Amino acid sequence: MRIILVGYGVVGKGVTTILARRYAEKVKDYGFNPKIVAIADIDGAVIDPRGLSPEKLEALKQTRPISSDPEFGHPEMSALDVIESVEAEVVVEVTPVNIKNGEPALSHITKAFKTGKHVVTTNKGPLALAMPALTELADYNNVYLRFSGTVGGGTPMLEFAKRCLAGDRILAIRGILNGTTNYILTEMSQNRVTFQEALSNAQKLGYAEREPSMDIDGFDTACKVVILANWILNKKITLKDVDRTGIRDVSLQALDEASKRGNTIKLIGSIDGDRPTVKPTEIPKTNPLCVSGVLNAVTFSTEFAGEQTLVGRGAGGVETASAVLRDLLDIRHKLANRLLNNNSES
Ligand code: HSE
Repeated sequence: MRIILVGYGVVGKGVTTILARRYAEKVKDYGFNPKIVAIADIDGAVIDPRGLSPEKLEALKQTRPISSDPEFGHPEMSALDVIESVEAEVVVEVTPVNIKNGEPALSHITKAFKTGKHVVTTNKGPLALAMPALTELADYNNVYLRFSGTVGGGTPMLEFAKRCLAGDRILAIRGILNGTTNYILTEMSQNRVTFQEALSNAQKLGYAEREPSMDIDGFDTACKVVILANWILNKKITLKDVDRTGIRDVSLQALDEASKRGNTIKLIGSIDGDRPTVKPTEIPKTNPLCVSGVLNAVTFSTEFAGEQTLVGRGAGGVETASAVLRDLLDIRHKLANRLLNNNSES
């Protein structure tokens, strides 16, 4: 499988690391033979149609910009040029999130579809703004769009609901879907740290989005709610359909009062009833959703099997990159099935 990697930040580097580390094992176990034939970022690209070697991928981590590589560098090429002109099966899109207009990821994804390439993305922006249209466009072009890393990072929340709960009916989804706000609220309630101090620690630890409002005003959680609602509950919604309140107004006093009642306050995204919401919510400390620090947790309420809660790491470079590998394997599996079906028809 030939891969074009678009975006070379924490997640992009995580993808090259994880592919190199798990390469032999995946070839052996799944016959999955991924080759990164190009990497494009804001300053140009590196392209090797035979696949960039593990040594080259390692060396590129120290090369600034990557397009200055003397062997394979193309400083003049944009990501769109690369997607259009380089032969590959899949584009892995991991550029920074933008929820104003979804760019540049939105153009990368649509260009990939139009040139017959499958897409794996960890970018919530285009999905939050245009998920119903993007899934239709993927179908129209007969390609797959996968985005496991957008919700729950390395924790397979989307797959769990889609596959493991396939025999049941999911009635409602509630979750702590943002590590930064959970870290801030945990620090405030357990260690009496101020909001600002907790936020700056989260930024130092690399959990927070580049623009902190994304986390603390609930936009990041709202994006994840949109993705869950579309993918799991088949609701055709976008970001504007989510009622959203962030955690700026959660005080130490409110946390103390909740604590006296055996509760705490968490930023909960929920899809339960007509209007999806994101808001600080008092929940019992004994609720399985009540996880600490940067952990994420989601509860699926189902018709037959009751409540199922999944807990795990929601952010981080290699964690999110592991979701990319999961998506690539899923596409590989689907393509193999397509081939089998075509052969049995002919
Ligand atoms: N800033 C996000 C979080 C990163 O804190 O959960 C993962 O989406």
